[in-house]
Amino acid sequence: MRKIADHYDRVAPVYDLRYDTSSGKVYHGHISRHLLDWLPRGKLLLDLGCGTGLFMRRYGELGGTAIGLDISRGMVEAARGQAGWFEYLVGNAEVLPFRDGSFDAVSCVLAFSYLENPDRMLREAYRVLKPGGYLAVSTLSRSVITSLVPTIYRIGEKMEVGRIGVGDFGERYYTEEEMARIFTLAGFVDVRAKRCSFAHHSLKEPIFDIARKVEPFIEKKMPRLAYNLVVCGRVPEG
Ligand SMILES: C[S@@+](CC[C@H](N)C(=O)[O-])C[C@H]1O[C@@H](n2cnc3c(N)ncnc32)[C@H](O)[C@@H]1O
Repeated sequence: MRKIADHYDRVAPVYDLRYDTSSGKVYHGHISRHLLDWLPRGKLLLDLGCGTGLFMRRYGELGGTAIGLDISRGMVEAARGQAGWFEYLVGNAEVLPFRDGSFDAVSCVLAFSYLENPDRMLREAYRVLKPGGYLAVSTLSRSVITSLVPTIYRIGEKMEVGRIGVGDFGERYYTEEEMARIFTLAGFVDVRAKRCSFAHHSLKEPIFDIARKVEPFIEKKMPRLAYNLVVCGRVPEG
């Protein structure tokens, strides 16, 4: 975990540049919209692995407020610099420093793959949610397309590529079925999982534009080719 925190401390000053390009904005906005569709609006959100607070700001634009938690102090400081009106904490998403039933919603955007014990994070999210509260997670799915990513990242680390997210961090990816099962085991009900994203921000134009155009078709008709997962579950009422 220290290695992940050190990496994100190092890249924190440049992290947002990745999503400042037009393709980066479109990519992160696309994932965020899928999550926002499943979360209650205008409420109190806890964002786990909040990074520089990109998703919190989107949630805030729709009238909600948010608290962010991240293992990297550098990312938390960058988030404070961007949107100081929210609260941020340095901490591990698997051990939450909040009372039971504190939040209406919990999100985890592009950070779930780093968790050493995802079941523990799910149990903690369940605990800190109010009855009827929602957890929504977006993460890379396990598929033929993504199976090479950890190897590429390991090689990238050896070659000292130094790009955001590139390194041997023991990341794990999951299928829809696995995610739905662990959500259900943690107690969540109405669990939904779908695949999204075909256009990746690292693609160069015009390939990115073409991928973006076919994205709705891929997501609907050929979801196996969409490489991110969005998963949502609800804490039962009473
Ligand atoms: C790819 S970034 C995503 C940041 C942000 N959610 C976004 O959408 O831009 C992954 C983040 O997860 C954080 N992270 C990784 N493991 C974590 C853990 N166990 N607890 C809290 N944060 C963690 C990293 O420090 C990093 O900021």
